[in-house]
Amino acid sequence: MDRATTTPSAGRSTIVIASPLEPELVDRLRAVAPDRIDVVHEPDLIPRARYAADHVGDPPGLDAAGIDRWLGILRRADILFDLDWYDPAGLARNAPDLRWVQVTKSGIGETLRRLELDRTSITFTNAAGVHGVPIAEFVVLALLYLVKEVPDLLDAKARRSWEPRRVAQLTGSRVLLVGLGGLGQVIARTLADLGVDVWGVRRSDGPVPDGVARIVSLSEFRSALGDVDALVLACPYTDETHHLIGRDELAAMRPGTFLVNVARGAVVDEAALIEALERGHLGGAALDVVEREPLAADSRLWDLPNLLLSPHRASIVDAENALIVDIFADNLRRYLEGRPLRNVYDATRGY
Ligand SMILES: NC(=O)c1ccc[n+]([C@@H]2O[C@H](COP(=O)([O-])OP(=O)(O)OC[C@H]3O[C@@H](n4cnc5c(N)ncnc54)[C@H](OP(=O)(O)O)[C@@H]3O)[C@@H](O)[C@H]2O)c1
Repeated sequence: MDRATTTPSAGRSTIVIASPLEPELVDRLRAVAPDRIDVVHEPDLIPRARYAADHVGDPPGLDAAGIDRWLGILRRADILFDLDWYDPAGLARNAPDLRWVQVTKSGIGETLRRLELDRTSITFTNAAGVHGVPIAEFVVLALLYLVKEVPDLLDAKARRSWEPRRVAQLTGSRVLLVGLGGLGQVIARTLADLGVDVWGVRRSDGPVPDGVARIVSLSEFRSALGDVDALVLACPYTDETHHLIGRDELAAMRPGTFLVNVARGAVVDEAALIEALERGHLGGAALDVVEREPLAADSRLWDLPNLLLSPHRASIVDAENALIVDIFADNLRRYLEGRPLRNVYDATRGY
């Protein structure tokens, strides 16, 4: 924990909203401590949301005077809601009093490392825990899509062909789930409720989360790959998880195994995955994330019939911003009371 985080500035703290947020949610933040905080929300100076919970948005198209106004606001910021849309790498310089940024993403390590913000004294808190329900729904969709052979159904329908035959069942199957945090815990409970035998992998020790039948240690991970019907990836992208699933890991899986990635694209070696799908070694895959987003028009992923492809939208739902503001409001109270914040990014762990 950064010491500055637990020590609010003397006097009032200025919170600047740097990405699109509904006015009623801004009001909820103001209501946390109206006598101690000023919340600056200038929608004309930040991107405009294209859909609910869009944290990128269309650029505001500011002229030089508009940019000056925005930089003037940043100079006063003690706390930011989301990274600066205008010059994220210049944050420490443009916001010299900044102590803490509540980011809207769960996996922020990659961005912070790329912008070298992990080397500053600014504290970053992430949105881990917010996306569990929609992501767990996507995982169920993905597994049923693959288990029930939906591509075959669509193909037969397009050919107007009535083809009864045996299909598999999700209940009774075994899933290896990598990551047992905000996402993994909801995925585990949801799959266990459907009768799936869930094996879980994580970095640290601790109580076994609900729904997880067995914890697989990192050293047992490779051999466990051959004992499951599906692999679900829900871990952060770090140096340790870069290409966690490569050619050797894919080869260790039984023929016909399914792979679902809701983590980050580069947790999987995409070239090796494409090869395993094209050869028919894997039974199919579902990706909400790919190594380079947006996916290149000439990627072979587009053409794979046994792949469900989702443009990193599995977690985007109407409820998202309200849940992020729940974390931010709770953290604001903690900050003002000098208590430790939740969801603090740890540069040593990388998540
Ligand atoms: N597709 C989407 O839209 C979407 C949405 C949200 C998140 N994500 C991605 O999913 C990731 C996880 O999100 P979260 O909210 O669950 O984060 P989280 O609460 O921080 O949980 C991360 C989990 O991954 C485990 N982990 C870390 N490194 C690992 C490793 N090397 N091997 C195995 N397990 C490892 C952690 O282990 P410990 O419990 O031991 O710390 C923890 O259980 C995010 O970082 C983000 O990249 C994607």
